[in-house]
Amino acid sequence: MLGTPRIHLETVASTNREARDRIRTGAPEGTLITAEHQTEGRGRFDRRWEDAAGQSLLASYILYPVRGAEEWGGLPLLAGLAVKRAAETFLNADVLLKWPNDVLIAGKKLCGILVESGRLGDRGWVVVGIGVNVRQREFTGSYRTPPTSLLLESGRPVDVDEVQSAVTRELSTLYGLWTDKGNAWFCPEWTRCAGMFPADIVLEDETGKRQLRAVDLGRDGSLIVENEHGERTSVFAGDVSILSANEENNA
Ligand code: BTN
Repeated sequence: MLGTPRIHLETVASTNREARDRIRTGAPEGTLITAEHQTEGRGRFDRRWEDAAGQSLLASYILYPVRGAEEWGGLPLLAGLAVKRAAETFLNADVLLKWPNDVLIAGKKLCGILVESGRLGDRGWVVVGIGVNVRQREFTGSYRTPPTSLLLESGRPVDVDEVQSAVTRELSTLYGLWTDKGNAWFCPEWTRCAGMFPADIVLEDETGKRQLRAVDLGRDGSLIVENEHGERTSVFAGDVSILSANEENNA
């Protein structure tokens, strides 16, 4: 079961960074670091992840996967699926997934996921960092994707610790199944929960922006895209904006 031991901190620079530090001092599989507030919360591509104290779930899980590193690309997607399942226990709304790890309600971002990995000696480690907007009534600042919170979507206050328990439960279940069966078994469910197959997209990565068609999810966690000549490639990192999706496929 993930979430044991749980270390809860009032203020921390970043729960992901704290988790990485604790890996060096021998923290066991499943260790969960949570915080009321982060002073240097980190997002993908070295972006900042801002929070107001006590409003968000800020959580990082330490994993030492027994599956090979070629399958770790599935873990950000697995985390997104866990948050979707957990969020839907508090809401009467459809929660959609967008590759690689956005969790969206009506196009607004509910959650950010930052998965980091490395090796220490002969052991591989993964930190799954999850930030869920829980109690915000409003957001200030500018965002690439407009944010939302469980409170705004459900119309009622939600307890951050209840969200933590639900996310931990779902992630534990999914991670246990992933450990036994690998990426292949959950990709069909993830694909059904994503409103983007097929979809015209703009992919932004270190090479710039390209318009492509998202056609499938690779079993390694990659996004399979098609260019205007119908040539397919696998994409492993980047930001995706959906231009238009086939509504019939948006389960
Ligand atoms: C993103 O959307 O760019 C990912 C944001 C991830 C934020 C979470 S909050 C808990 C954990 N600690 C961090 O510093 N980042 C992740």
